[in-house]
Amino acid sequence: MTAERVDLGGHDTPCLPADRLGAALGFGPGMLWIKRDDLTRLAGGGNKVRKLEHLVAAALAEGADVLVTGGAAQSNHVRQTAAAAQLTGMDCVGVFSSDPPPVPEGNIIIDRLLGLDERWMGPLGFHEVDAAITQVCDELEAEGRAPYRIPIGGSSPVGALGYVDSADEIDQVAPAGSVVYVAVGSGGTAAGLGVGLGSWDRLMGVDVVGGRSLEGFVARLGSEAAALIHRPDPGGRAGFDRSQVGEGYGTPTEECHAALELAVRTEGIILDPVYSGKAMAALVADRRSGRLPADQPTVFVHTGGLPGLLVDRYQSWFPQP
Ligand SMILES: Cc1ncc(COP(=O)(O)O)c(C=O)c1O
Repeated sequence: MTAERVDLGGHDTPCLPADRLGAALGFGPGMLWIKRDDLTRLAGGGNKVRKLEHLVAAALAEGADVLVTGGAAQSNHVRQTAAAAQLTGMDCVGVFSSDPPPVPEGNIIIDRLLGLDERWMGPLGFHEVDAAITQVCDELEAEGRAPYRIPIGGSSPVGALGYVDSADEIDQVAPAGSVVYVAVGSGGTAAGLGVGLGSWDRLMGVDVVGGRSLEGFVARLGSEAAALIHRPDPGGRAGFDRSQVGEGYGTPTEECHAALELAVRTEGIILDPVYSGKAMAALVADRRSGRLPADQPTVFVHTGGLPGLLVDRYQSWFPQP
């Protein structure tokens, strides 16, 4: 059974061998592949477009006229949601877990171009963002609007369906039995991938937030997504790597910086400093330690996030020549 979705350009992204990067890491030829979900079609691309195809379908089916979601100031998810709203004729409210920055940078510039209604809530924890999204929805309803609530990162069971599709696409082209590396923020991407891959054993989720246990949460979300499309619960047990968080979400690490340089100087591919760079740093560390054998077919899911590189915080990585 397939789920309802609207076409926002989130599907059929390239999944290609990355032999130059693979060789630099000592993989055998044809063993390392990259799924280019940074190349989804909406407002700079990224992994959230896949989730939004399902979430927007649900919103339109309910008669919603405004999408409400939230995240950190540099949320790629909020940017892509604002673009999805424009493409489908809805408004979009973004709830942010901080004060507004003095100077707009990165994703915020694009949010403003997209006409996002920004609500800056001051410093909020992960779960408080979801509560603030609900509160904004209640306020909008009281004003006679029809909001559709999208949790942080779009990680509802409906949103996770987008990543079942991505796994299906991976399995059509990548070598059989590939393991899949992906960054884990709110968990929906990993949850959907696990369902699509059919076994948690094939998934390595790289945590970029820290301070939490992911196993139960991601498996539960995967189960709920699987039930929506009558797929079986995946067997096995997902691996979660917590070694790349550094001092916390978004903090620069030397391993991430090195992974960014390696990817761009072998494949011309730009990773981001918050998610995909840290996921690649985990893959590099696992290959170098031998935990990931040279003959293990491996797919790295590039989840996007490039605008987040264009902020002041990471400029020390790029000294003036
Ligand atoms: C670029 C990028 N990669 C990975 C993720 C993580 O995806 P998820 O929140 O589904 O775990 C995000 C989430 O915001 C993201 O923006």
